[in-house]
Amino acid sequence: MITPQMLDFDTALALYEWQREMGADEPVGEEPVNRYELVAEAVKVAPRMAEPAPPPVAPVAADPVELAQAEAEAATTLADLAERQAAYDRCDLKKGARNFVFADGTAGSRVMIIGEAPGRDEDLEGLPFVGPAGQMLDRMFAAIGLSRRAPDTETGLYITNVMPWRPPGNRDPEAAEIAMMLPFLTRHVDLADPELIVLMGNTPCAAALGQRGILRLRGSWATAFGRPALPMTHPAYLLRTPSAKREAWADLLEIKARLRGTG
Ligand code: URA
Repeated sequence: MITPQMLDFDTALALYEWQREMGADEPVGEEPVNRYELVAEAVKVAPRMAEPAPPPVAPVAADPVELAQAEAEAATTLADLAERQAAYDRCDLKKGARNFVFADGTAGSRVMIIGEAPGRDEDLEGLPFVGPAGQMLDRMFAAIGLSRRAPDTETGLYITNVMPWRPPGNRDPEAAEIAMMLPFLTRHVDLADPELIVLMGNTPCAAALGQRGILRLRGSWATAFGRPALPMTHPAYLLRTPSAKREAWADLLEIKARLRGTG
């Protein structure tokens, strides 16, 4: 074997050029090298790499009612509440509705009316109680000097519904749908801060009092959201059942007396 020590510079260069001319393009050692073993060794001695980070986990889907509660409680104004409720997408009624129906009238009025859910006209206009039942409601409250058009809180009305989206075919809202909207309604009452509440029909009684049976409940003061609340028969019922208007009139007088401090 020729070693580098045996060669002077010129001889080594001449040897190298000769090898190149002969087609040698790769220096090869005297002993074969098992490259797979070298790799295995390198892996053994290489510092252990850190475990790859797990892929980011999507937050666990919150329970729809808990999510509604968090959103509602975070709202600081009525406009903020409306925005958060309109963006809430766990209630399937939203998918079939044309409009989100939040409220009408003067916020801060002494009287707040809570209805059931938008019907066809309300869904089209995006306002509560604008169809025939709504016109009836306006006439009823005008009879005791209250109006949603009054700008002052003394004679104004503030009107909302339990559900902000129209149920298909005007069916009754389901218990789960009411439960999802209840945190928003609770916050809505807090922010509107009425002196007393009118529960118009069965759905608001179910939501606020946990009871149905409006013909039994109507006319007796209850407590809802920590405030005096009077269940009344729905104006749509009064349109179908004119004989029930007498009792509704008595309920309106009850409200009037309460506002005057004589009820
Ligand atoms: N009935 C309701 O309870 N609310 C409306 O907005 C319309 C009809």
